[in-house]
Amino acid sequence: MANNKVSLLHSLRFRLIASVVTIEVIMLSILVWNNITIIHTTHTDRLRDTANSMIQQIASTSGRHMIAVDYATLKDYLRNILLYKELSYIVIVDRDDNDVIALGRQKSKHHPKIDSHPADVHDGIFDITENIEVADEFMGRVMMGFSLSLMEDAIQKSRNRGITIAAIEIVLTIIVTIFIGLGLTRRLSVLAIAAGKVEAGNYSVSVPTKPDDEVGRTAAAFNSMVATVFKRTRQLIAEEKRTKQLLSENRQLVQKSLEVQEEERKNLARELHDELGQCITAIQADAESIRDLSPENNKRLINSADAILNVSAHIYDVVHSMIQLLRPNVLDNLGLEEALKEEIHAWNKRNSHLRCIYTFEGDLTNFGERTNITLYRIIQECLTNIVKHAYAKNIKIKLINENDKLKLSVNDDGVGMDTKKLTQRLGLGLIGMRERVQSLDGTFSYETSPDFGFRILIHIPLKTGS
Ligand SMILES: Nc1ncnc2c1ncn2[C@@H]1O[C@H](COP(=O)(O)OP(=O)(O)O)[C@@H](O)[C@H]1O
Ligand SMILES: [Mg+2]
Repeated sequence: MANNKVSLLHSLRFRLIASVVTIEVIMLSILVWNNITIIHTTHTDRLRDTANSMIQQIASTSGRHMIAVDYATLKDYLRNILLYKELSYIVIVDRDDNDVIALGRQKSKHHPKIDSHPADVHDGIFDITENIEVADEFMGRVMMGFSLSLMEDAIQKSRNRGITIAAIEIVLTIIVTIFIGLGLTRRLSVLAIAAGKVEAGNYSVSVPTKPDDEVGRTAAAFNSMVATVFKRTRQLIAEEKRTKQLLSENRQLVQKSLEVQEEERKNLARELHDELGQCITAIQADAESIRDLSPENNKRLINSADAILNVSAHIYDVVHSMIQLLRPNVLDNLGLEEALKEEIHAWNKRNSHLRCIYTFEGDLTNFGERTNITLYRIIQECLTNIVKHAYAKNIKIKLINENDKLKLSVNDDGVGMDTKKLTQRLGLGLIGMRERVQSLDGTFSYETSPDFGFRILIHIPLKTGS
């Protein structure tokens, strides 16, 4: 099931708002800073230009009055000028640097630090000076101070207005982005919830496709995908059911054929034992009678009777070993453990270059007929495979009955099988083992590698009668 709870940092809505607001703040800061710089430059330039033109005007007017020594008119004239709001003081000095007229508030009387530009002023007054010259003769100097406070007020007001507009814009952007983000993510959440339902196997979900924007089209594609997945899943389930059915029928068939095979073997062994055995015994008895009753000088007859005895003895051995292969008597007479021991001893005798050791633990006497024959046939097939394929030296067979759970393992230290090679497939022997074990509700597995040989592992739960 998809997790519908998304952490804040991973939320599309949060990331959308955060990115837009960050970009907005950066852009607006640049804009406000740029505006403030422009406003500052414009104001200071304006003040410098005004101040320069005023001082030049005053210098030329003052020169005329100083020549006429008409200081009263000059003072009136300057008083009018001092009405100008930004002007703090006007001082006229003569050529000996003595004050002739001093109007307004001057900070340092005779030596104001002259400023080149209002932007460089530190004491709040833009101090400038201009020589008074008449016909190229130096008459004195005009000094003027312009207060920056008005200009700074104007700049401050512009700055505040800029910042307020930027803040309003940010708030509006946040509101609009939240609104868009909510709409977008709400529709995406509907899609995510629907996907979760589909994942859980509910194919009846359908998400709204209106409005027909990108999300709407994604939703339409989602709906048609769900319909296709539903159709395919239904087909797949039907196919799977059919395959399972076929597999189970095949399995039943295999298991039935194994049972029939076992039954047939048993019948054949009995027939061989009862019928052929009787006949051979009769032939042997007749051959012995012929030999015993034949005249002593009839060597040919005696030899023929002996030959019949030899051949019939051989036939008896062959039939006996066929009976053993078909159905070991000992399994019915002495039980599984003895039958296995006999089989392993016989095998060890036939394959004296190999060494097979066995361990039997627990009570192995009370299994049903099917379990006995299954275990016997599996061990027979394992031993045959070892001779055929393993090139092993040592073989270990372990059969344990532990709390009514049967465990069988057959290990060999041979060449093993490379399971990655396509040619190395299960043959009828291993498939037969698996089917026999599964018909007893057990599990069959094998492990093999070229390094450690081959290992068959079988677990069978014991039920009474099986
Ligand atoms: N003990 C073993 N060691 C190595 N390979 C084995 C062993 N047992 C089986 N195999 C491999 O598994 C294959 C299938 O075995 P099996 O089903 O008994 O069929 P078959 O014996 O007729 O080939 C064999 O062809 C062989 O390659
Ligand atoms: Mg085999």
